[in-house]
Amino acid sequence: TANGLALTPPMGWNTWNRFGCTINETLIRQAADAMVSSGMRDAGYVYIVIDDCWQGERDAKGNIQPDAQRFPSGMKALGDYIHAQGLKFGIYSDAGKLTCGKRPGSLGHEYQDALTYASWGVDYLKYDWCSTYTQDARSTYETMSDALRATGRPIVFSICEWGLNKPWLWGETIGNLWRTTDDIYDHWEGRHGFEHSVMDILDLQVGLETYAGPGHWNDPDMLEVGNGKMTLEEYKSHFSLWAVLAAPLMAGNDLANMSADIKTILTNGEVIAVDQDPLGIQASRVAKHGDYEVWARPLKGGGRAVVLLNRSASTHAVTVTWDDLHLPANLRLKVRDLWAHRDLPEASGRFSADVPSHGVVMLRME
Ligand code: DGJ
Repeated sequence: TANGLALTPPMGWNTWNRFGCTINETLIRQAADAMVSSGMRDAGYVYIVIDDCWQGERDAKGNIQPDAQRFPSGMKALGDYIHAQGLKFGIYSDAGKLTCGKRPGSLGHEYQDALTYASWGVDYLKYDWCSTYTQDARSTYETMSDALRATGRPIVFSICEWGLNKPWLWGETIGNLWRTTDDIYDHWEGRHGFEHSVMDILDLQVGLETYAGPGHWNDPDMLEVGNGKMTLEEYKSHFSLWAVLAAPLMAGNDLANMSADIKTILTNGEVIAVDQDPLGIQASRVAKHGDYEVWARPLKGGGRAVVLLNRSASTHAVTVTWDDLHLPANLRLKVRDLWAHRDLPEASGRFSADVPSHGVVMLRME
């Protein structure tokens, strides 16, 4: 790994999916407060990441400064506030001259910016890819990775070049996670311009399993759970699938105004334990019969996590066979339902469950 960090997929919250460029220090402090009061911190979410649009101008010496209107107390104070809540502080920059939101990027200021972030107490950097023109992705990300390491502060490095240059082939020694696609949007299936729905992103993860592991993760983008455009069933599926994929779990909703149902999804400890399994093996799609799919991953201790997915428009039985799992047909396994939180009868050879439309049944078998 690049820096010994993120031995399990990073968990936290990021401003972008819900708030875009409309951010300020009060919003961030309220999110940090809500992270604690909602129980999200205790469920494992630790990074509070400020995405694009926090930046103001560089000063006369070229030091990046926050937007003085939106962050009047400065970033050191905000970082201190976040740390005082037992959380960690994440920030965003871009590898080009300008960020996607047209704020100053880090091009030509990589070492200077890394030192600035370290002086603010930053623990996590997401590094975007707008206005990079002919830059070489690998060497560009290497420069910022080296700059972060040179600060001496442990900083998780999130590579965000949208999968354009196959970062899974070179990211392992440079960063801790890399986006595999263009942006997610709050939608179950299909595409919207460059934006991908949950099912679309899921399909794009097939074949990337082997590149993930402790310290270096495929990032299918941040969660849309709770942002309002999908059903609860769909959010449950989105969360379950990201967990079985060993994806970073970055909540992207309004934590300070979240419903009890959404909180229940985001804080399901049994599902989170799958995401955070120390083996760090990303699930593969082990069966696909039209709209019915099985995703599975081995877990520490010899068990496995299995997600039965129904992409169709009505409830339907979905079956996993022991053959799908490369297990002998006569083996008896304990089965636990990670959403119902109960043990089911032991099974051998196969297991079937009725799965609602756009829903999942998520199991642990051992
Ligand atoms: C593109 C990234 O993919 C998004 O996640 C977000 O960081 C925006 N840029 C911010 O401008």
